[in-house]
Amino acid sequence: MPTTSKTLGAPAAALDIPLDIALAPEAGDSQPSRVHAALRAAILGGRLPAGLRLPSSRALATQLGVRRNAVVTAYEHLLSDGLAEARTGSGTFVAAELPRGPALPAPAPTLPPPTGSKPFALGRTHADALLLRQFSRLLRHHLTEPDPAHFGYGDPRGSEALRAAIARHLAATRGIVCDPGCIIVTSGMQQALRLCTEVLLQPGDQAWMEDPGYPAARRILQSRGTTLIPVPVDAAGLDAAAGRALAPAARLAYVTPSHQFPTGVTMSMARRIALLDWAHEAGAWVVEDDYDSEFRFAGPPLTALAGIDGPGLDGQGRVIYIGTFSKTLFPGLRIGYVVLPPALVTPFAAARAVMDRFPPSLLEGALAELMTSGAFAAHLRRMRSRYRTARDLVAEAVTRAAKGCLTVTVPDQGLHLVATLPADLPPTAASDIRAAAGTEGWLLSETRLIPGGADGFVLGYSGHSPAALKQAAARLGAAAEAYCRRHAAALVK
Ligand SMILES: Cc1ncc(COP(=O)(O)O)c(C=O)c1O
Repeated sequence: MPTTSKTLGAPAAALDIPLDIALAPEAGDSQPSRVHAALRAAILGGRLPAGLRLPSSRALATQLGVRRNAVVTAYEHLLSDGLAEARTGSGTFVAAELPRGPALPAPAPTLPPPTGSKPFALGRTHADALLLRQFSRLLRHHLTEPDPAHFGYGDPRGSEALRAAIARHLAATRGIVCDPGCIIVTSGMQQALRLCTEVLLQPGDQAWMEDPGYPAARRILQSRGTTLIPVPVDAAGLDAAAGRALAPAARLAYVTPSHQFPTGVTMSMARRIALLDWAHEAGAWVVEDDYDSEFRFAGPPLTALAGIDGPGLDGQGRVIYIGTFSKTLFPGLRIGYVVLPPALVTPFAAARAVMDRFPPSLLEGALAELMTSGAFAAHLRRMRSRYRTARDLVAEAVTRAAKGCLTVTVPDQGLHLVATLPADLPPTAASDIRAAAGTEGWLLSETRLIPGGADGFVLGYSGHSPAALKQAAARLGAAAEAYCRRHAAALVK
């Protein structure tokens, strides 16, 4: 470690040093901590040079107006820090060798803010009072009658109880029949996809990515050096024939077949079969992100892709299914899961173990009980109704205010809808309108890998109050209408 120059020959007499213990509030209220913090800052800041003799504890205590014992304790602390030295019979000295470290912590860089909370910000859910009461009761129970599992290291796949509860939920709602041993509980879909990239891909490997598609998934794939192949999405979902033409030997395809993000389309059965056929032929993996299927507002629940994939010639399925509690409960829970073909369980569990060992057992225990008690299913029913109302409210208010300038697609499921602008507007139109309306949510253009096509808004309607949504929808529609009117007028001139 670099050191300042030695000044052992410096005067050894006690000094009346300028110290202000009021300037060290971070040290707390205790006198010894404040005296220590002030001395430490003065030494590291160079105001007390190496080798300087410190005043006697009595003299410094008088100067600072503190108990003598506080100075004695502070000096002992400096001695154990290595910032001071005791010389028998001569007193306490600033150490001869000092680190050049700064007295104050360097300021942290400013990071972009996380998802906001303004109307239409995506990824928010309703803070339901009943759910939170039920969940806190379960958490309290797990603390007052703790499971021995909390006090040791667990299975990297997560607790057996939660995996069994997830398996039952998937069989009942998604047509997926799986052994709970093939489920790994993860920190959201984010970690599940990250595990897929670590275990299944080498840097440079090609992966099909829906275009437009989920930006976070794109970033995860890119973070491992994956070559993204943008595969177009139309009214029938990802076009596997186009994917084959672009990159037949890709190793993986990331898809949201039940409710494509952001367009909201459902992948047709013909497209699903085409995708699975390609995956089996190419020996590629299909990663199905089934992020919001619990919120289906009309029609029967759709069977997941993982529910229709059968074993190929190699005896195994090619679909890796990812689910999350970020939509059904709340994102701060950070719990999701991945359902794996049996052959992938061992490598995924090993990769998860070196990443962060295993999921938080306390949350898992409470969540497993929430699911088995029926409270989770009841919460989904309540939220389905709440979010359907929110969807209708936004669709209606934005359509009315936009006076034909926005085309609103009302989805059959999920927590967001898309409102599209006319195709002939300038490239900054959507961001200008969003800024004028004071709303959040993504622009359609922000979800595209290949720029082009009409821009528009991806509007999240969950986790915002109905009043805020209504006002924001009216503002956004009006801002879009005003923009289109000005643009048309400018063209006429
Ligand atoms: C397409 C999609 N997948 C997954 C998620 C959830 O991610 P996570 O489980 O990491 O919170 C979201 C959240 O907004 C999403 O939009």
